[in-house]
Amino acid sequence: MNAITSAGAASAASPTVTKAVIPAAGLGTRFLPATKATPKEMLPVVDRPAIQYVVEEASAAGLDDVLLVTGRNKRAVEDHFDNNTELEHVLAAKGDTERLEAVRQVTGLARMHHVRQGAPLGLGHAVLCARSHVGDEPFAVLLGDDLIGPGETLLEEMLRVRARYGGSVIALMRVEPDQTHLYGCAAVEPAEDADGGDGDGTLVRVTDLVEKPAREAAPSRYAVIGRYVLDPAVFDVLETTTPGHGGEIQLTDALRELATSDEHPVHGVIFSGRRYDTGDRASYLRTIVELACERPDLGPDFRQWLSEFVLSGRRMAATG
Ligand code: UTP
Repeated sequence: MNAITSAGAASAASPTVTKAVIPAAGLGTRFLPATKATPKEMLPVVDRPAIQYVVEEASAAGLDDVLLVTGRNKRAVEDHFDNNTELEHVLAAKGDTERLEAVRQVTGLARMHHVRQGAPLGLGHAVLCARSHVGDEPFAVLLGDDLIGPGETLLEEMLRVRARYGGSVIALMRVEPDQTHLYGCAAVEPAEDADGGDGDGTLVRVTDLVEKPAREAAPSRYAVIGRYVLDPAVFDVLETTTPGHGGEIQLTDALRELATSDEHPVHGVIFSGRRYDTGDRASYLRTIVELACERPDLGPDFRQWLSEFVLSGRRMAATG
């Protein structure tokens, strides 16, 4: 990623982004029955719940104020980022410093806040629930079940674009034409005045957006993925956004209104790194396998087992 390499000075009036909003109030129906009583954001990815990776990503990008938008059945999400003195006490008494450190690290990631979304009326509505906490500042939104590969710097990149151009910034990924109906889809054009930093075309201006279009209606193959840096102007738009696709208040529809107005530019950073949708069962399985393989503590043995397992499957298929 090298769209913008320095913060630049375009928006001198633009405050620095310090707040991250993590919507985690969805029903997780694609993962039922596992998510009947357990939030999908709490499904483990190796040894951490998915949402912990998301909070770690926000924290690594310097966003030290995190608002979780939660709902019914989401107490576990709130508890995960809270102190558990009883558990810490037991681990300390046992001298299990490694696990004690792992438990404490979670609470030290950021200043955590919660707000409840009374009913899952859609992602746009979940973002609107953050209004009083965010106030009149730009802010980041990271979807609680969407993981960006460790070491990727997508969010930092998006924050730099916001600092330089103002307005809102969304993350885009090129998908196959038969996948566009699963995402918000963006019409894009080259960003004007990328100040020479945009060598590989990863920064674009978004001119239109459609939520989950039919294949023939998709404006491009650029799908919106779960990272946003938003101008607070989005709140006024969301206040009047009516339910759209699936009867839900869609963030895409509000961003479309901004993108098609002249006052609030919406830029897109085209991401070509690793991204996992842990709310989707097949993607969730791939996430665990890939991240487990990379872990220094588990990876070597796991990779060995995995290759033997795959080979034995091939042998079975060949002999069966
Ligand atoms: P998804 O569409 O992936 O979540 O929303 P979902 O509705 O839970 O998914 P399925 O299709 O039923 O499995 C993306 C993100 O927005 C949050 C979700 O928790 C997820 O992190 N969300 C969605 C809310 O916080 N509130 C909503 O009303 C809808």
